[in-house]
Amino acid sequence: MPAGFQQLGGETLTGTFVLSVFTAVLGSLEFGYNIGVINAPQKIIEQDYNATWVHRYGEPIPAGTLTSLWSLSVAIFSIGGMLSSSCVGFVSEWLGRRKAMLINNMFAFIGGSMMGLSKLCRSFEMMILGRFVIGIYCGLASGLTPMYVGEIAPTSLRGALGTLHQLAIVTGILIAQVLGLESLLGVEDLWPILLGLSVVPAVFQMALLPFCPESPRFLYIVRCQEHQAKRGLRRLTGRQDVSSMLAEMKEEKRKMDMERKVSILELFRSPLYRQPIIISILLQLSQQLSGINAIFYYSTSIFMKAGVQSPVYATIGAGVVNCAFTVVSGSRCGIGQHGSLDCNVGPLFLIERMGRRTLHMLGLGGMCVCAVIMTMALALLDSVPWMSYISMLSIFGFVAFFEIGPGPIPWFFVAELFSQGPRPAAMAVAGFSNWTANFIIGMSFQYVADLCGPYVFLIFAVLLLFFLIFTFFRVPETRGKTFDQIAANFHQGSVGGMMDMDMDMDLDKPSTEL
Ligand code: GLC
Repeated sequence: MPAGFQQLGGETLTGTFVLSVFTAVLGSLEFGYNIGVINAPQKIIEQDYNATWVHRYGEPIPAGTLTSLWSLSVAIFSIGGMLSSSCVGFVSEWLGRRKAMLINNMFAFIGGSMMGLSKLCRSFEMMILGRFVIGIYCGLASGLTPMYVGEIAPTSLRGALGTLHQLAIVTGILIAQVLGLESLLGVEDLWPILLGLSVVPAVFQMALLPFCPESPRFLYIVRCQEHQAKRGLRRLTGRQDVSSMLAEMKEEKRKMDMERKVSILELFRSPLYRQPIIISILLQLSQQLSGINAIFYYSTSIFMKAGVQSPVYATIGAGVVNCAFTVVSGSRCGIGQHGSLDCNVGPLFLIERMGRRTLHMLGLGGMCVCAVIMTMALALLDSVPWMSYISMLSIFGFVAFFEIGPGPIPWFFVAELFSQGPRPAAMAVAGFSNWTANFIIGMSFQYVADLCGPYVFLIFAVLLLFFLIFTFFRVPETRGKTFDQIAANFHQGSVGGMMDMDMDMDLDKPSTEL
């Protein structure tokens, strides 16, 4: 093995390869950072909004206006994400994966600078616009990163590396939460730095991307540039003979050429795709309407209301639980090239031996129970002070169950339910549904929480129960099945039949068909 090369899972990883993966997931880190960053400093930024209002109009900001401005600051991020995530397919084909990531950094740079300078310019409009622009970055990054990593990864490691996307997101959330501590940047004078820091991953990504090769899969399959693809493969693998990899790509290209591209409208019109697209949308909705981002956007104020003594530390606790359970449930499972799913089921993680459907239901059910416990704890808080601990623990449980199923699984599932032809359209619809629901939660949670008081999480409990029932009756188990089998079962309209299908596949073999 040449010097400077690392051995992992039987694969030799070159420095170029490690650098390329690291550089790409900086985008996911940025995404996570911007989910978590507005949580801890909510109160101090609101004070600044108020100061700006007093400066402009000579009177304190009305409470309702402040709630609206803050909710908008939180949620407009998802509007940016909604718009851009539906363009991932087009942008990545037009510019190529690497150039798309490179140019996308412009949005992070502009958005981060606007947020960082908003206090200096006494403008909450700048902050809101900055959140929108950084949302555009995150929407594109949420598609480009897994696509690039999946495409350059060797087949045997594609699954494991695919999870780095979600892992980098949750790490970004945690970093933002820690930096938001009062002892660090979560204070009146320093919060602009906290928000402005989101330019840092962008700067690193911009500086490093020129040293990373374009995805050879993209070069060969989409651009038909065999020579350049070979050169990229040689750099990534450190091998001179890349003919076997090229042969594999040829096979993929052949299959892809045989399939017709399907438009978004067709997905809903054709009886062939209608059922899987409905399932895909509902799975995305189950991820977002579970209420997870109510926690990641507003946990500090939720913990405060729950009587927890150090709400910011409790928020960090939620971030740590989130990271830990992502590692547990997501290990060696991820999205492969063009969004296809790879799941390397090893003997280490028992949790991977359960099907996606089971894990998703377990996650939804667990979250539902935690939401009910949380509601009871909040309702009893006045009479039983130690209930604050119960609400804190139930929030931790809520987050842990999320990462067991509803966090990672919906994205995998969409890729699994569709073959090469309809997959880009299906991914766009799924991305759009996910970000739209994210927006609804970010925008409305505070109002609904004010209206419902301690009972707000009951709404999520009801929704979670609905998604659990839907998953039980409608969502098939796809683990270990080929696209042909999945499609054939939808043709027969017998999802129940799919669930009864033999699931005793060889768990030690990666399910390469998917
Ligand atoms: C998933 C969701 C995202 C959420 C995160 C929490 O990535 O898509 O909205 O904030 O999980 O870990």
